Amino acid sequence: MTLATSSDDTLTALELVHLRRGGTSVVIDPAAPSGPAIVHWGRELTASTPATLRRLADAAVPQRVSGGLDETGMLSVLPTPARGWLGTPAVEVLRDGHSVSLKFTLVDVTRSAGGVDIDVADADAGVSARVRVAIGEGGVLHQQLTLRNSGVDDLTVLSATASFPVPWEQTEILDTTGRHLRERSPQRRAFTFGTHLRESRRGRPGADATLLLAVGRPGFGFESGMVHGIHVAWSGNHRVLAERAVTGEAFLAGGELLSAGEAVLSPGDSYAAPPVLGSWGEGLDELAHRFHSEWRARPQHPRRPRPVTINTWEAVYFDHSLDRLLRLADASARVGVERFVLDDGWFHGRRDDTAGLGDWVVDAAVWPDGLHPLVDHVRALGMEFGLWVEPEMVNPDSDLARAHPEWILRSRTELPPSARQQQVLDLSHPDAFDHIATRLLALLAEYPIAYLKWDHNRDLVDAGGGPGSASHVRAHTLALYRLIDLLKERHPDLEIESCASGGARVDLGILDRTDRIWTSDCLDPTERLTNQRYTALVVPPEMMGMHLTSPVVHSTHRAVDLGFSAAVALFGHFGVEWDLTTVDDVDSAAIAEWIALAQRLRPLVATGRVVNVDGVEPGIDVRGMVAHDQASAVFVVSQTDTTAAYPPGRLRLPGLRPDDLYRMRILAPAGGDIGPGQSRLGWMEGETILTGQEWGTVGIRPPVQFPQHATVLELTRVVP
Ligand code: DGJ
Repeated sequence: MTLATSSDDTLTALELVHLRRGGTSVVIDPAAPSGPAIVHWGRELTASTPATLRRLADAAVPQRVSGGLDETGMLSVLPTPARGWLGTPAVEVLRDGHSVSLKFTLVDVTRSAGGVDIDVADADAGVSARVRVAIGEGGVLHQQLTLRNSGVDDLTVLSATASFPVPWEQTEILDTTGRHLRERSPQRRAFTFGTHLRESRRGRPGADATLLLAVGRPGFGFESGMVHGIHVAWSGNHRVLAERAVTGEAFLAGGELLSAGEAVLSPGDSYAAPPVLGSWGEGLDELAHRFHSEWRARPQHPRRPRPVTINTWEAVYFDHSLDRLLRLADASARVGVERFVLDDGWFHGRRDDTAGLGDWVVDAAVWPDGLHPLVDHVRALGMEFGLWVEPEMVNPDSDLARAHPEWILRSRTELPPSARQQQVLDLSHPDAFDHIATRLLALLAEYPIAYLKWDHNRDLVDAGGGPGSASHVRAHTLALYRLIDLLKERHPDLEIESCASGGARVDLGILDRTDRIWTSDCLDPTERLTNQRYTALVVPPEMMGMHLTSPVVHSTHRAVDLGFSAAVALFGHFGVEWDLTTVDDVDSAAIAEWIALAQRLRPLVATGRVVNVDGVEPGIDVRGMVAHDQASAVFVVSQTDTTAAYPPGRLRLPGLRPDDLYRMRILAPAGGDIGPGQSRLGWMEGETILTGQEWGTVGIRPPVQFPQHATVLELTRVVP
């Protein structure tokens, strides 16, 4: 994120601030009674004048009421009890083992890139703070808090949370939960009085984390209904909450979840909280689009066409026989794969998942000539080579763990509970960091590695820096970022995927320095429809790994139609997770066609706007990608189950220019599949040309499909 520069352009004290960008307005009243407050975040206020904004800010001040404080506490950018705020405070700190009252007063407001820095201080408490408030290119509101210990002894930070006011009438909450193989399952509830709190204590966001905490008008969907949501751009422990106070304030807040002792500031030291990002929209698609445009605008965003990737995991698991992998590479190149990724199992002692993590040298017993014969073969076939690593992890059964047990994160003498027979290295230990950095750099020097699949297969539990030590989760997370940054600095063309038992580390902290996520270990297209839809609320589709599955899904044992699996993977970074050496000529040809289609559509996927169609009858799922200039769009109509209506009712294909004409054609299955006893639909026979408005508001009859099949439709603008 590039919102970090600031100038010394100090605004007139107490002047109202109106930030406008990307269709968003943020109005800040530095002189609000309880401290600087955001009095509006959302739709751009295009007609406002300084005078109306002043009155708007005045009109946001709550009344005094019976039974309350003489000055009703108002939500500010740093609400604390000493300012009359009785809800969740933004900042909690300890000095000498007891909590410190914080009553911040404004020091100044200065312009920074895309926004302002609000500096406040409490001289008595010896704490000062900066709240950076900025709007990015896509209209996303960024807030970042920095706390400074201006006292004379240590200060322990317990929390530093950024608050985002939301419209009072938005009374429904949406967030996600999940587990391994089913990340980002949506859940909704009423946003009633009290606090809805979601915390991650896994040392990574976790499969159960909510990527987005959103509140909207009841019944809000993807196409309509005002909704606001926040995301914490951080890969360690974090918390987000939605709170509705009886004093008439509703807000979202988020930050790092610190344990006591993790952030102890010596005099003069600072704590920088992770950025918290807020987006809004008339419907979730608009909210998501802001995140996507903002992310795509970063200089480091991956811009070259996303190479079609094969990952060897489900094809061979730990069976690293060179001959088998060479044949897999041949079969991959034949169907048009562009990147071959060697997954887990190549390094010293790694014959299964019980041993070897930490020993990042090629296993000489399995690979007597190193990885060279495979890498050379892959590259001779015209593909890039990628390699799996899990640099933060160690198996107790490894040379590294035997040599350096003191590098393993733990808070007690004994090791933390084991997970997948592995423990976590303390990357904040300088020697551990140097060792791992040296090994990774050596691999990158020896082999032409274009891509690292960076895995992370366990939660951090009791993750101290040694017996009796405080948690090192924060320090480890910062060290992880430093390590990735170092590799990227030394190898600017290296791409990195963030994988964590599938999609357990999906956040914009890691995605600011990596190139994609592994969205889930579940390759079942029916499951992926939900997972991908809700992951894309924040993550741009081209950064989401979406792979074609083998015909019987390994994680669900469902038998899956090839076309359905491919169609569901089209709106992402396309790849294959299948032993292609077992595929017959007919399926090979079909895979090659799907890969060619994914290659044709990838510019659209990388720049287009995601559209999820609301109100579709149960059993059907419709989603699309509309080109940024609305000259074309592609929709995937998936039959997830049977429908109650037979044939089903009409469905809409929205997102196009209302007055322009668009011609539709069926991309897959070629010509449209017809089941027994079904006639073809009128539009399957020839050209169907409708206006964008007709496509979007009236629609067409979808074909009756077998459950778990999909039709891919392309709409192209007709140039008169
Ligand atoms: C978990 C990942 O999500 C899988 O794709 C695979 O890389 C395995 N780890 C390897 O151990």
